[in-house]
Amino acid sequence: MSDTTIEIRFVLNGAPVRTRVQPHETLLDVLRRDFALYGARESCGQGLCGCCTLDVNGETVSGCLYLAAMADGATVGTIEQLDADGTLDPVQEAFIECGAFQCGFCTSGMIMMSRELLRHNADPSESDIKSYLSGNLCRCATYPEVVSAVRLAACKRRKESA
Ligand code: FES
Ligand code: FES
Repeated sequence: MSDTTIEIRFVLNGAPVRTRVQPHETLLDVLRRDFALYGARESCGQGLCGCCTLDVNGETVSGCLYLAAMADGATVGTIEQLDADGTLDPVQEAFIECGAFQCGFCTSGMIMMSRELLRHNADPSESDIKSYLSGNLCRCATYPEVVSAVRLAACKRRKESA
């Protein structure tokens, strides 16, 4: 049988990597299979829940819909890079301090999307946060705590940059 895989090369959490993928494989599946990065998770598999959120070239994407082949030449970031130096990101700290999770299944996606929000808006209102995170679903219904966590993270980041 002929080999239908293609080689892709990209920067993953700051390091150049390469692997071979089938044309139909998603980036989420490839990150889990070839790089043991399990922080992003598949729940709906349809771009509806945000559990699989990844960063590609500085923008958040649904990893369950993003074809791995499209990542060739890209810069990809996952939740695992946030504490790679042993220090938690302010958004991670805020989620812990506010108890903004129960089972944690949605949490990496919530944190990735919250970081993107804070990149665009340093002082989001409650309604800004609810609107921006409307595509991130939490079966444990930790939404109020998530809003508190994002507001706390925004405060921490503003203090850090002051
Ligand atoms: S698993 Fe990708 S959006 Fe739900
Ligand atoms: S903390 Fe359980 S799904 Fe969100």
